[in-house]
Amino acid sequence: LIGEKIAVGDWGAHLGKSDSWLVNASTIGLILTGRLVDPAIELRRDTTGFLTRLVSRASEPVVRAAVAQAMRIMGEQFVLGRTVTAALRRGVSMVRAGDASSFSVDMLGEGARTDADALRYLAAYRACIADVAAAGPGGGHGGSTPEDRSGVSVKLSALHPRYEARQRHRVMAELYPRVLELAVAAREADISFCLDAEEADRLLISLEILERLCREPGLAGWTGLGLAVQAYQKRAPYLIEKLEELARTTGRRLMVRLVKGAYWDGEIKRAQVQGRPDFPVWTTKAATDVSYLVCARALLAAAPHIYAQFATHNAHTVAAVRRMAESAGVRIEFQRLHGMGEQLYASVSPRVPVRVYAPVGAHEDLLPYLVRRLLENGANTSFVNTFLDEGVPVEVVASDPVSTLEAAPRRHQRIAAPPRLFGPSRPNSSGLDLTLADDLAAIASAVTALDQAELAARPLLARGLATDGPQLPVMSPCDAGHRVGTVVPATAEVVPSAIAAARAAWPGWDRLGGPARAAILRAAADRIDADRARLIALTAREAGRTLQDGIDEVRETVDFLRYYACEAERLFSGPEPLPGPAGETNRLALSGRGVFACISPWNFPLAITTGQIAAALAAGNAVLAKPAPQTPLTAMAVVEALHAAGVPHDVLQLLPGGTDVGAALTAAEGVDGVAFTGSTETARAINRSLAAREGPIATLIAETGGLNAMFVDTTALVEQVVDDALVSAFGSAGQRCSALRILFLPHETADLVLEKLAGGLSELTLGDPTNPATDIGPLIDARAQAMMEAHLAHLLASGGRLVARHPGPTDPRGGHWFAPAIVELAGLEPVTREPFGPVLHVVRYDASAPAAAAGALAARGYGLTLGVHTRIDGFARDILAAVPAGNVYINRSMTGAVVGVQPFGGRGLSGTGPKAGGPHYLARFATETVTSENIAAKGGDPSLFSI
Ligand code: FAD
Ligand code: 2OP
Repeated sequence: LIGEKIAVGDWGAHLGKSDSWLVNASTIGLILTGRLVDPAIELRRDTTGFLTRLVSRASEPVVRAAVAQAMRIMGEQFVLGRTVTAALRRGVSMVRAGDASSFSVDMLGEGARTDADALRYLAAYRACIADVAAAGPGGGHGGSTPEDRSGVSVKLSALHPRYEARQRHRVMAELYPRVLELAVAAREADISFCLDAEEADRLLISLEILERLCREPGLAGWTGLGLAVQAYQKRAPYLIEKLEELARTTGRRLMVRLVKGAYWDGEIKRAQVQGRPDFPVWTTKAATDVSYLVCARALLAAAPHIYAQFATHNAHTVAAVRRMAESAGVRIEFQRLHGMGEQLYASVSPRVPVRVYAPVGAHEDLLPYLVRRLLENGANTSFVNTFLDEGVPVEVVASDPVSTLEAAPRRHQRIAAPPRLFGPSRPNSSGLDLTLADDLAAIASAVTALDQAELAARPLLARGLATDGPQLPVMSPCDAGHRVGTVVPATAEVVPSAIAAARAAWPGWDRLGGPARAAILRAAADRIDADRARLIALTAREAGRTLQDGIDEVRETVDFLRYYACEAERLFSGPEPLPGPAGETNRLALSGRGVFACISPWNFPLAITTGQIAAALAAGNAVLAKPAPQTPLTAMAVVEALHAAGVPHDVLQLLPGGTDVGAALTAAEGVDGVAFTGSTETARAINRSLAAREGPIATLIAETGGLNAMFVDTTALVEQVVDDALVSAFGSAGQRCSALRILFLPHETADLVLEKLAGGLSELTLGDPTNPATDIGPLIDARAQAMMEAHLAHLLASGGRLVARHPGPTDPRGGHWFAPAIVELAGLEPVTREPFGPVLHVVRYDASAPAAAAGALAARGYGLTLGVHTRIDGFARDILAAVPAGNVYINRSMTGAVVGVQPFGGRGLSGTGPKAGGPHYLARFATETVTSENIAAKGGDPSLFSI
């Protein structure tokens, strides 16, 4: 069927294609890498046309054989050989046939997750350089200089599991020597050595590595060193300036490969997810194309300091670059990927030298590379795709990007910039970026300032009320000797007068109406946003939250305030008319219930505290906030921001205190509702306390614990499982109610996943949360630490097998550290309660019959978060049906719910609902009044006459 056009029906619509599809390697790849892996279940249900016919005619072995064959075709299409020797042998005949001048061999493999992976890739590159060198100028391809000979391309992400800007120290200490070793080998063989361009947030660290290589005395005089530059990045022209300067100042010639870039969709997603001010990449294809030409001109002008290599499969780009190079009189080379662009370069006349990027390796390392090629071939905007589509006229295929851009010189209208992701009424919160020096400096100076300040929390009560008590120290959980500040706790005695003041203040606040309250909440959001560096420092010091946790939490806090502001306008802007008969008006109005007690936990001292308070206030209630005793300073910062934004002091009062204050609040008659987040046991106690009171029955909105599981099947991508399980189980030291506790692994892949999980765990950094390289901070207090140690001991005593344990922080300084652990269990029995810390329990199961495992979990009665990793929709559906959960995450991590995007909350033992940050939350804080008026009694219905 290769080369046929097929009708694709539903399946094509799903992929954004209209009526027909050319069967080529990409099509087959989409079938293989998409959902269509289990032919029996998925193909029949989800596809029409060719695929359905294929399956209905073929038996399963036939389909499997066809898939295996397709995989081989794909492999040969994009991979030059399984070994370098085989690839070079194939390369010789390509050179003879005129399909290539030389090669840049790329060992498949990237994004190492463990050091074992990285060492394997390093060894492969070592051998690759030796093989390319041994092939020599003759047995290899072309002449005797790096320009003429074959060389290698290296992905730095293959060489270290933590190749991240945040891990700069480790990158320089551990990854750099590996790159240097390879570079020295390439230099000795005098072949080219190109650092491939990967994700945009790795650009600066890759540049730092290149800069250091350029200054290595052992590499002096070598002209083969180089870097790939992505023209879709807005920084590309500045990068070229920098490269030219680097070449000049280090007295060497650099090779620079200009590409457009292969990670565009990922860059768009990451910037939106992380709330960056804008994208690092252009949002229109024409902008990328023009940027390429701008960069091309800069590279040509940088000769002889730079030897320019133009990698593209676009005929217009090739023609434009060639013309520019000819008029500049500069020697250049073109590059194409193996399996692409043969026809293009074969038709360029006179012929130009073309280096072929030659992936080499085994199928198991092919997937990420393959997926990029499939996206590239399948995208509507891609040159290759439009070229192959006979329906696209030639003028469009080879249109001039400059005129396209001039005709529409605007950013893409359908790709919302991160700040505008939620539309005009709700600006997205913005995130600081721990890979940027300016943002790091802002946080570092906030930490210093915080350490020098005298922080003191105290009750913030309505005017005229006071509470006296001892000033207690607030200690840091990371360092036994570090006093963060002090707190004067509220007492149970002050509760009745605080409630009375709140009751008196409530009607005025309620009458203010939704829009006026929304304005105040938005002002509070802006204040918190402006104060973010200090708040991040504060949560790190007081709650042991890492800087990234802090960044995410400030964003969530801002999002809550802005989201509930919008909801206040939507629901509390005045009575809503209801349908009814003529001569009558019927209207529904929402108003606050009265006084709410907001009892918040220490694990999200900023976001949950703010979320509860903001929702209660937005709905027109007065609030008594009782934060966790561990984090009074952060809670005070929240309440101060709300007061400064205009919430009256008697409408919002802060009562930092312990269980006595909480118990006094929930026992008091004047409290109309309680918003609580914490343990299931405490929620029950609150429920009983409220039920024991006389008077109106109060509302209880409770977010409680969970026993959250992730179910993995054999089709899941192992690297994705490992990434998501590690962050879900160990992020925030496992102190999130959404955290992953139980990982169900299929027998078939369990050993492999466990090996990578253990390797990944050992790469995580435990330590001072104010250090940007830290992944995991301490537990909140000594009690939590003792509970987790007891839990682990109990697991091991019950037959659990310790798969891996992190060695712990290098500098514990008496903090409440608990080294994260992975424990394999035969079943769920030893997990008797929610273990609130970084222990990942692993259970092997039969993924083809998951009912037993799912049933055992469901029987525990929780229902908070659930993860599923599979490429078969039917498997996910079965798990979802069997395990109750409020928030389900498919093929991603299970934590980090975003306000308004993933409204959050559980069911069963995990909470009452409605979901925080969702459209039904505020209504639960409100009462409803329906007014029905007979307007005929005033003389008739004028609106009826004027119809
Ligand atoms: P075209 O179809 O003309 O352009 C495709 C480009 O346009 C892509 O970059 C795409 O992201 C971009 N684009 C599409 N829509 C939009 C939009 N709405 N807004 C902005 N941009 C858009 N890539 C890397 O990232 N790193 C490397 O190290 C690297 N090495 C390579 C080496 C070689 C030899 C070759 C040939 C390619 C390499 N690539 C690398 C891949 C390269 O980025 C893609 O092949 C290239 O983008 C395709 O460009 P084109 O001119 O052939 O195609
Ligand atoms: C990629 O791996 C070719 O580097 C480019 O997509």
